[in-house]
Amino acid sequence: PDGRPLAGRKVVVTAGPTFEPIDPVRGLTNRSSGKQGYAVAAALAELGAGVTLISGPVALDAPVGVTRVWVEAAVEMKAAVEAHLPADIAVMSAAVADWRVDGVASGKIKKKPGGPPSLALIENPDILAAVSAPGAKRPKLVVGFAAETSDLEANARAKLSRKGCDWIVGNDVSSEVFGSDGNAVTLFTRDGAEPWPRQSKTDVARKLALRIADHFKA
Ligand code: PMT
Repeated sequence: PDGRPLAGRKVVVTAGPTFEPIDPVRGLTNRSSGKQGYAVAAALAELGAGVTLISGPVALDAPVGVTRVWVEAAVEMKAAVEAHLPADIAVMSAAVADWRVDGVASGKIKKKPGGPPSLALIENPDILAAVSAPGAKRPKLVVGFAAETSDLEANARAKLSRKGCDWIVGNDVSSEVFGSDGNAVTLFTRDGAEPWPRQSKTDVARKLALRIADHFKA
């Protein structure tokens, strides 16, 4: 039998950006490379978990032993996550676009003499909040991320309570984080905050995976 600490546990991880189409050739996206989320998926799989990685468009290979599901827009990411519940654990590290274009054009929008078109935006569903909502399919542990450029603690704590997840990994993205191999984060739980100094995204992921394994041991 597999003696690894997360053997038999089912995990859903989201990673990367979402891509919100404007028309068939253009879209809105963000600077997430997927590195942090892919490292989390790999670290959980190394501890024996069965990991499904719901990934936005990135240029990374799927980690060994991880099942990857490609998605583009936030609405597709939400459907893919929900299709893979129930799970014991969800880790939502994707940089999900808060808005999408209302009324995606079916053909390429042409450049016209009258000036540029206006884009009307509508709010995307909050995947983390939906997964965290009480119900039979709620994972036992839901971990969110919070990318902030100021007031990390206040903003991360506000997200922890507003979205209803159990832990949040606060990420100060004002210095190099997007696309880089290093990261400095603070793990916020309901009753504590643990700052983790800057280290490789692989090491951040391994630390988080071990914390998760400890949680399930307790
Ligand atoms: O991909 P890398 O280049 O390695 O960079 C890593 C990272 C900075 C993307 C990652 O560490 C990180 O912080 N991910 C969260 C990015 C983010 O969009 O944070 P947020 O504060 O906007 O969202 C808070 C949480 O809600 C996140 O768990 C997010 O996945 C979730 N969310 C947000 C909006 C939405 N509509 N649905 C969501 O589920």
